[in-house]
This record gives sequence, structure tokens and C-alpha cells, in this order.
Amino acid sequence: MKKKFYVTTPIYYVNDKPHIGHAYTTILADVLVRFHRVAGQEVFFLTGLDEHGQKVQQAAEARGLSPVDHCNDLAPRFLQLWDKLEIQYDDFIRTTQERHVKVVQAVLQKVYDAGDIYADEYEGWYSVSEERFITETEKESGEFRDVSKLKEKNWFFRMGKYQQQLLDYIKDHPDFIQPEHRKNEVLGFLRQPLGDLCISRPKSRMRWGIELPFDKDYVTYVWFDALLNYVTGVGYEQDAQRFGEWWPASVQLIGKDILTTHCVYWTTMLFSLGLPLPKTIFAHGWWLTGDTKMSKSLGNIVNPLDLIDQYGVDSVRYYLMREMVLGQDANFTMDSFIKRFNSDLANDFGNLLNRVSGLIGKYFDGCIPETEETEAEKEIREVAESLDDKVNALIDSLRVHEAIEEILVLVRMVNKYMEVQAPWKVAKEDLKRAGTILYTATEALRVSAVHLSPVMPEKTKAVLEVLGAVDSSSQWGGLTPGTKMQAHEALFPRLEVKD
Ligand code: ME8
Ligand code: MG
Repeated sequence: MKKKFYVTTPIYYVNDKPHIGHAYTTILADVLVRFHRVAGQEVFFLTGLDEHGQKVQQAAEARGLSPVDHCNDLAPRFLQLWDKLEIQYDDFIRTTQERHVKVVQAVLQKVYDAGDIYADEYEGWYSVSEERFITETEKESGEFRDVSKLKEKNWFFRMGKYQQQLLDYIKDHPDFIQPEHRKNEVLGFLRQPLGDLCISRPKSRMRWGIELPFDKDYVTYVWFDALLNYVTGVGYEQDAQRFGEWWPASVQLIGKDILTTHCVYWTTMLFSLGLPLPKTIFAHGWWLTGDTKMSKSLGNIVNPLDLIDQYGVDSVRYYLMREMVLGQDANFTMDSFIKRFNSDLANDFGNLLNRVSGLIGKYFDGCIPETEETEAEKEIREVAESLDDKVNALIDSLRVHEAIEEILVLVRMVNKYMEVQAPWKVAKEDLKRAGTILYTATEALRVSAVHLSPVMPEKTKAVLEVLGAVDSSSQWGGLTPGTKMQAHEALFPRLEVKD
């Protein structure tokens, strides 16, 4: 049986159009999926929208729309962006869909029947922006907006009873929460007694949600609803066989802003349901502009559509994947975008294609030459051949920027090899030898393009077409001597730095 890889992104709130932060997590999932698919695995990629809850209701009200109309109006913006970004998701879930509503209600009933849900009067600090009751300490931190005291009857999930089980699980499964510093953050959070989770909202205050199956006066708290999308999407309570094939997820990607909801709420919900936990929850850092998080409410967002229109989808994907060290914050600046573009894409990768195609055009009538390997070529071939293992290992450990860097090491090495070997000089005395050099450089370019294809699907496809490379295997020797290369334009024309 083929190895399976199931990846999820958070389902984004439909309170505004998507920004570069949403694009980032979704591209990351897409890149991982493509790498795993190239490695011969069966993949499933779930993304979607979080449509219930106060935030969405308020956003709809502000636009004078019903929540349904508001969601239906904004959902296509996400789909259009994913389309433009070449995102190959397998399923796009919206929490208002019937299939999901049914799962949420079935789960609530199950957890209720198992005795893990009870009613209680609760008084506490409620943060509208976070949509949850916060602790006294959290309130004092001053990090929460729209906080007010609230007292009401609500329904609670016995989250606290799973505290020890969760601690043990985290300790026994070192890969479960990544990166390490996020795991420690969760362990720190679990050092205090874990309370129960309020999972209802009275309809008198908030109507936009899934009705509790055992109390018609309440809707489900948006997080208890939203987190379940990850099992709805693979057939939970709908298709047992399919669910068994895909759950548990291989990697659940999130930003560090939603660490607690995933590592504590979600996992204890799964404990209560008797379901296995995802193999890995990976929390990446934030894209910042200057020193602040890019966010809708702060009004400092970068619009991904503008970037794509101006610089092309592949360079946006490349920049986001190469520039962020997975797990840490990164700063988005046009300056770093242009620098990265010019150095890696224009100078290193794009230029290699220009050089080989120009010289093969001039000396070999545009046909891939024959090759006869010497020591110098062997070195290039061996590095190219080692990429498969190196890249796979780095992708498996979610070190995407390092995987990209490994591929670029080969590209730079080949550019260096071209300078040292100077095939344009050699061609004047020894055409056969010049052929070997150009074959080797072009084949290394082909192998790099194959490895970079999960990151830059369009441009690498163009490169392979120019090279007449029918077979997209990363094994050395894929180019066929005699094949006529296609005419092409510069892959990544250098960007001029604006003042
Ligand atoms: O939290 N940098 O939705 P959301 C990096 N609906 N990533 C960012 C980012 C930034 N500046 N801003 C947003 C929700 N993201 C819930 C999730 S899941 C069951 C429910 C990304 O629209 C990042 O992945 O606020 C973050 O976790 C997510 O968008 C939050 O999206
Ligand atoms: Mg958010």
C-alpha cells in the first residue's frame, strides 16, 4: 500500500478577504503535498472556511448583510486566490455545509452521552475578539481586546479531566507538537490546572452557529465546531472506510496564534471521542510588517493578489517558502522580496537556463549535445543524485527553506562549474568536450527544476518544456541528446530596485 499523507490548514474566518498570512499557510500545505506526491505518496489536502461565530456575524452586520449572504459573497475570494496561487487542495470545506453541521451535532451528542458535557452557571471575563472566556491572568496581560464581565448558563466540555492524558501523550510523542519551543509553550500552559471548556453560546446573545442537539436555546461555540472540520473532511460519521484510511492527519499546519485551541481543545476533544491524535501539529511563526503582526484589524496587510499580478505566482510562492524559517517569525518587506528574487531566481536559476540555451543554440543548433563524463562532471552528478534523499529528509522534518536551499546549492555549483569550464572557449577547440559541459549543466538544471517544481509549478514546467524533458524524474540522465530545445524568454527578468 502507498504511504498516505494528509495535511490540513486552519479554516480561515470569513470576516474579510484573505491576506498574505492565509496565503502563506495554504502555500506551505500545497508545497508539502506536492513534495509528498512527487515522492510517490498518496495525498489529501484539506482547507476551507470557518463561517460561524461572533466574528463572522459582526463582519456581516457591519456590511448590512445576513451571515449567509456575507459568507457566500466572500468565499469565492478565497477560492479565486487559491486558484491564482496554484493551490491543489482536494477538498474545500465550509462549516455551514450540511455535511459538517451533521458531524458537529453527532459529536456533541456522543460527547454528551459519554458524560463529558454538562451545564453550569458561569461568570467570567469574555473577550469578543477572541470569542472565548479568558482567565484573570490573561485579562491582566492586557493583550485581549473587547473584554467584559459576563454571567450566564452554559454547556461545558470536561476538558480538565484529560489534562494528565494530554501531558503524557505530549511527552511520549516527541514529534506531536512542533517546533520544540511551541511544545514547551503548551507544556507551560498545562502546568496550571486545566479548566473545562465552555462550548455553547446562548441564542439570546449569538444566533449564528450550530444548534446544540440537546438544548435548542444554544448554539455551539465556534471553535468546538470549527476544529471538527478536520475529521468531517475525511469522512468521519459519513464513510468509516475512508475515515480509517486518512485519519489521523499527518501534519496539521497552524499559525502560532491558534496553538492552544489546537494542542489543547482539539486534542482533548479527540480523546473524548476515542480518536487518535494527528501525528504532528506544526505551528509556524508570523509574517510581520516592521515589528507588528500583519493582520486585518491592524490594517497593515500585504495583498497577495497585487503581488502575484506584479511579480508572478511562482516568485511569490518562492519568496514565502524560502524567506521564512519554519517556526520563526519573518519580516515581509518589498526590499527583501526584490533581493531574493534577483539573487536566487534571476541570477542563479533563471540565468542558468539563459546561459545553457544560448550556448547550445550557438554551438549545437539548439540540440541537447552528447556527453562523456569526467571527474568534474561526476562531482555535479553526485550532488544532483544526492538531492532526492536530502530534500525528502528535510521535507519530512518540515524544514522547507533548507530543502530549497539544498537545491539552490546545486544551481550555484553549476553556475560556478560553467565559469570554470568556460564551454564558450572550449567549443572553439574541442566541440565534443563543450558538449559534455553543456549537457551536464543542462541536466543539472533539469534535475533542479524537478526538485523545485513543488515550490514553483509554473516556471519549472516552462523550463522542462524548453529542455524537451518529457520525463520528470529526478534521476540523473533524463535529458536525451539530440532533442531540440524550445525558444524561450527570460524566466525571471531582473527587477530594478525602486527608491
Ligand atoms: O484563526 N502570518 O482563522 P484566521 C502568518 N478560523 N500566518 C498568518 C498570519 C500572519 N501574519 N495571519 C494569519 C482562525 N495567518 C480560525 C481557525 S481552525 C479550526 C480555525 C494564518 O482567519 C495562520 O495560519 O484568523 C493563522 O493561524 C491563520 O491564518 C488564522 O486565520
Ligand atoms: Mg486570527
